[in-house]
Amino acid sequence: MRSVTINGNTFYNGDCVAGAAEYIPDETVDLIITDPPYGIDGDRLHRHYNRDEEFVVEGYVEVPAAEYGEFSRAWIRQAERILRPGGSLYVVSGYTNLYHILAALRETGLSEVNHIIWRYNFGVYTRRKYVSSHYHILYYEKPGGRRTFNLECRYGTGEQGPDARSLNYRDREDVWTINREYKPGQLKNKNELPTELLAKMMQYSSNEGDLVCDMFLGGFSTARVAIGLNRRVTGFEISEPMFSAKTEEIGAIEPGDLLPGLRVPEKAGDPPNRGKPWTDAEVKHLQARFSELRDAGMTKKDTVATLCQELGRGRWAIEKALKGMGSG
Ligand SMILES: C[S@@+](CC[C@H](N)C(=O)[O-])C[C@H]1O[C@@H](n2cnc3c(N)ncnc32)[C@H](O)[C@@H]1O
Repeated sequence: MRSVTINGNTFYNGDCVAGAAEYIPDETVDLIITDPPYGIDGDRLHRHYNRDEEFVVEGYVEVPAAEYGEFSRAWIRQAERILRPGGSLYVVSGYTNLYHILAALRETGLSEVNHIIWRYNFGVYTRRKYVSSHYHILYYEKPGGRRTFNLECRYGTGEQGPDARSLNYRDREDVWTINREYKPGQLKNKNELPTELLAKMMQYSSNEGDLVCDMFLGGFSTARVAIGLNRRVTGFEISEPMFSAKTEEIGAIEPGDLLPGLRVPEKAGDPPNRGKPWTDAEVKHLQARFSELRDAGMTKKDTVATLCQELGRGRWAIEKALKGMGSG
């Protein structure tokens, strides 16, 4: 099987069942995120989505519906074998063949953690029934080890939104509304997963340096996000044109390039004045001190960090207050 190694990450151009059996040792993968072919005549999948065909890479390989059950059992058995105890598996699935995937998972020793609904924009257009605008994400774990779940990776448990509801709680509800990405003029797989969706799963369920695997790389979106978040990554794609086009692009990604753009959560217990209303005097002081530090040549980032310390408030609160004053 042809393989390509880029910055220490190896990708395989071939069937994931045979490939995993040959190349991925037992219990070496921390996290699997994967989006298997849907078994619904995927070559026509894109027609529903009203896309510009020119940039869709040919070569999406579909699995005949009649073989879907056995196919699911075969790759899920490999996924179970390569996951470390405590490792996590996320499977993105449409509705049509969901029962095959659920049945295959039930035959393994993996345990269900959550059944997530991913709600997206641009649903499949219909006139005589409701518009289908969700996918299922089956989140499972391999028992026998400590599962990574980074509770405050995106929002501190004490952070509240403008409606006084916990941002952390809301982020961890099992219905996720995340829009698909529209990428005009770029070569893409017929059903690429959005960065935001992949980053969320990776942030909660892995740490930097962990090994992420995608059994069905497609447009390599999992690989792209994993590298961007400084994870190691491996995986399989059976289509040759897709594999060649996408491995070329992967080489250009700077490891960790998504990290600076991540929201920094305010972790519980950090800023002593968190949640307290701002007094007029404090707002005036904030404005004066901000100008003073900036005028002295301090970067905006360092200025905000200094103000967090001085005022005992979190970065988010300081930035919000500065924005309100027109200094953000
Ligand atoms: C739904 S797509 C994956 C899309 C991907 N998550 C993305 O964001 O671009 C499924 C992919 O699996 C590939 N595929 C089909 N059968 C396969 C197999 N046995 N082994 C590896 N890849 C396979 C298809 O060619 C297709 O690109």
